[in-house]
Amino acid sequence: MRRLENKVALVTGGARGIGEGIVRRFIAEGAKVLITDILDDLGEALAAELGDNCAYFHHDVRSRSEWDAAIQAAEKQFGGLNILVNNAGTILFRAFEDHQDADIDRLLDVNLRGVILGCQAAIPALEKAGGGSIVNMSSADGIAGANAVTVYCATKFAVRGLTKALALELGPRKIRVNSIHPGGIYTPLANPMQTEREEYDKGFWIYPAQRAGDPADIAAAAAYLASDDAAYCMGTELSVDGGLNAGHYYMGLPGEPPKPA
Ligand SMILES: NC(=O)c1ccc[n+]([C@@H]2O[C@H](COP(=O)([O-])OP(=O)(O)OC[C@H]3O[C@@H](n4cnc5c(N)ncnc54)[C@H](O)[C@@H]3O)[C@@H](O)[C@H]2O)c1
Repeated sequence: MRRLENKVALVTGGARGIGEGIVRRFIAEGAKVLITDILDDLGEALAAELGDNCAYFHHDVRSRSEWDAAIQAAEKQFGGLNILVNNAGTILFRAFEDHQDADIDRLLDVNLRGVILGCQAAIPALEKAGGGSIVNMSSADGIAGANAVTVYCATKFAVRGLTKALALELGPRKIRVNSIHPGGIYTPLANPMQTEREEYDKGFWIYPAQRAGDPADIAAAAAYLASDDAAYCMGTELSVDGGLNAGHYYMGLPGEPPKPA
């Protein structure tokens, strides 16, 4: 049996990148999926490609009223809601002191407020369905710090904390809440200069995996956490980062990674 047979999922930021990968995997696993995003053309095209078990709904995660409408749309279209993936996110590569008020607001509103609002909005629908799974997209930058993404990093640490606290509150109500911590996934967000894949991978020689990740790598983790296979995972932080946060290399000593040619 496929992992997500008879489940209904809502995936935010599902029009491209990691979200698109999750949508494709969930459909392959037998789920019915409502893609939400603000990139309507991409979202609609993806839903049309994936057929009757998939639909698109315009939804800005910063808006509480749009959250209510999106949850209702999932229930109306597919008869309920079992899985919420809070994937939508935004990043800014900038020196800390150069973050303007609008930059800070955008990062906090999309990456943190959007996830809080989403969890709040989904609870009644998940309870109505007899329980469910919330998967929050944090980051490798939600586990360890990184330069040039200080405020982004703060939002992703916050999502990790929210996930654990919420797992405690919602576990007894049969809702599991877990987080995924991707690192270096080949998407428009992580590759704003649109560097070709082969060239891009060279920058990952410092990762044990020796390559960037793919949306499919994250989608596999999301499918697991969303499914009943993860019934005992609550507040789990799942790193899918090619080993980035496993530790650090002592260069010049045995076991160091091969330097790129
Ligand atoms: N790519 C990586 O290496 C990486 C690493 C760690 C974490 N992440 C996280 O994974 C998630 C997906 O990132 P991605 O790499 O696929 O990026 P992406 O930019 O390709 O996709 C993000 C999606 O979120 C949508 N979105 C942005 N703001 C929104 C809003 N206000 N309302 C609704 N949708 C909105 C975008 O339109 C887009 O479709 C993000 O939360 C990101 O922080 C990515």
